[in-house]
Amino acid sequence: MSSHGAPIPMTSRACGALTGTAQVPGDKSISHRSLILGALSVGETTITGLLEGQDVLDTARAMRAFGAEVTDHGGGSWSVHGVGVGGFAEPDQVIDCGNSGTGVRLIMGCMATSPISATFTGDASLNGRPMARVTDPLALFGTQSVGRSGGRLPMTIVGAAEPVPVRYVVPVPSAQVKSAVLLAGLNAPGKTVVIETEATRDHTERMLAGFGAEITTEITDEGRVITLTGQPELKAQHIDVPRDPSSAAFPVCAALIVPGSDVLVPNIGLNPTRAGLFTTLREMGADLTYENEREEGGEPVADLRARFSPDLKGIEVPAERAASMIDEYPVLSVVAAFANGKTHMPGVKELRVKESDRIDAMKVGLEANGITVEDGPDWWTVTGLGHGNVPGGATCASHLDHRIAMSFLVLGMATQRPVSVDDGGPIATSFPIFEPLMGGLGAAITRSNG
Ligand code: S3P
Repeated sequence: MSSHGAPIPMTSRACGALTGTAQVPGDKSISHRSLILGALSVGETTITGLLEGQDVLDTARAMRAFGAEVTDHGGGSWSVHGVGVGGFAEPDQVIDCGNSGTGVRLIMGCMATSPISATFTGDASLNGRPMARVTDPLALFGTQSVGRSGGRLPMTIVGAAEPVPVRYVVPVPSAQVKSAVLLAGLNAPGKTVVIETEATRDHTERMLAGFGAEITTEITDEGRVITLTGQPELKAQHIDVPRDPSSAAFPVCAALIVPGSDVLVPNIGLNPTRAGLFTTLREMGADLTYENEREEGGEPVADLRARFSPDLKGIEVPAERAASMIDEYPVLSVVAAFANGKTHMPGVKELRVKESDRIDAMKVGLEANGITVEDGPDWWTVTGLGHGNVPGGATCASHLDHRIAMSFLVLGMATQRPVSVDDGGPIATSFPIFEPLMGGLGAAITRSNG
């Protein structure tokens, strides 16, 4: 079930060196898309390494509700018997996407050009997030939607019976919006064109091509122009989901700030649309190396090796890098607290509409732990205190946001006093093995408050 249970307070305290190998789970973005594209294909898609976090499990359940046969074979091995493009059945229950913005926005897209209706809801975090960014472009196909004020869930989408293809310039840097439009374009006749002025993660484009769609990307003066030919027959595939760089960020950043640490995080995808954090950490002086660099399934992959880095320095993070590390700013702000000098992070307005307002959530929690943070509508600055000087000692609110909870638990691994979070439950949405994995490296995380 996706409903969030009783809060799980957690505390993290200074520990000895973190050492060993961290096998982080499968990529969340690719896991959602594997299930969705499998459901839209003809034949049986097989998936290995699927992230079995709650967000992805909610998407699996939703695909069943639209008529696909989704089977869990155990150990991250799944199969999806698809219904084909345009073959979705109308669900007879409300679709609960739990905490997942990616899940709900992509699923709205892929049902929006079929003659069916569906009602979507989620948890308190998801039901507060903006959906007009998706329903506005879907309306151009002929799709109707009725939700709560401010374009919020619960919301009913009435798919277009006779969809027309669209040309859409994405007004915010969002892979979810781009993907929703492309998925809607699958069942519209003719060519759907999506233009993004800032490149965002390109998994949808790559995977659509892999499933046999006719899709091209051109870099023009307008930006990235993606053209999809509608009504293809998608063919079932085998997908081996790579490990998630956004989850790798947590053991990597922890190793950089805990004295004596040396941690290997194998098989991490370094797709340039996702790897901005690692570039940034290296610019800050992190001892972070890429070992065994190779290509797998057309994607650059490496084993990341992170060692304790006592002389990190604050930097200016280029605004144009934001989309490639948008989920990693919370944990970057933790590393910045242990650096010398200020780390300035501009161009990050989107952080305010994630699972929580991530700038605000981190600012309040970091300040309670003795770190100075300044912010504006689309920027924030963390003043680092240098290694060994971060006080800690506070309990932070996680705001139903997995990455906020994990970031504060990483903070507590190197502060003078322990750091607690009021609720570590949301961690299960993306990184269900976070506690045992970090514990296995030597971290001291307990289920208690203080
Ligand atoms: C995602 C896109 C990003 C990211 C999210 C996953 C995706 O969201 O924050 O965790 O899989 O497409 P936005 O599209 O809102 O930037």
